Amino acid sequence: MASADLPAGLLDALRQAGRVVFLTGAGVSAESGVPTFRDALTGLWARFRPEELATPEAFRRNPQLVWDWYRERRRQVAAVAPNPAHCAIATLQARLPHTLLVTQNVDGLHQRAGSVDAVEFHGNLFTNRCRGCGHTAPQGDPQLAAPPPCPECGELMGPGVVWFGEAIPGEALERAWRGASEADIVLAIGTSGLVTPAASLPEVARQGGALVVEVNLQPTPLSAQADFVVTGPAAQSLPAIVAVL
Ligand code: OAD
Repeated sequence: MASADLPAGLLDALRQAGRVVFLTGAGVSAESGVPTFRDALTGLWARFRPEELATPEAFRRNPQLVWDWYRERRRQVAAVAPNPAHCAIATLQARLPHTLLVTQNVDGLHQRAGSVDAVEFHGNLFTNRCRGCGHTAPQGDPQLAAPPPCPECGELMGPGVVWFGEAIPGEALERAWRGASEADIVLAIGTSGLVTPAASLPEVARQGGALVVEVNLQPTPLSAQADFVVTGPAAQSLPAIVAVL
């Protein structure tokens, strides 16, 4: 995408914004080779059943099956690199005065691209969390073959991601909500906007007076409320913004 193809007014809005919030989803990592969740055919939830892999009940029923699936995701993510979308967000964070990055992604690619202090709304693939006592620890060996016992309570630890039916970590929720309500502009990038509470953040920001920008390959439920819609791959759209900001 050429910078000239960006919606009129978007660059001025970004230049004038005091506080900018980025809300990112799986589409940002798609061009690194990490599968999204809901894209037809390639999305993870098109090929696997979340209730067998991404719930506390699934882990209680078959911890090894769940562990093996996340171990494979750890392997996949460790083998890929951040793409120009991650790098453009890190550059914008460095250039703009006040930004907050809220990501639903658990892959750590924003941090590897240089983003600091990301709010990991759905946790991190490379940590472990005990569902018994809540203890969280770095994963250490990403290819550990079986779920380790929790050093605090002895229950099996699972991956440090938020599963269906689990609460968003309190600090992440609080920072994201405060950031959205104080924002001048929020950019929702590569997210289907179907999973709450993350999907509510642009609306929280809008109610606080923020402009809403959507960057996506295709329309989503957010598109109708967005002030600016940038249609195209994030790895092209975001560098096009950086090039002229
Ligand atoms: P989804 O898979 O639901 O949506 C991905 C979005 O990215 C879609 O709207 C695509 O059109 C868009 N997209 C794909 N490739 C893109 C590209 N190259 N550039 C721009 N947009 C692109 O992923 P999320 O919205 O992140 O939760 O899903 C939200 C949550 O649902 C995930 O965090 C995960 C999942 O269940 C947990 O793991 C708790």
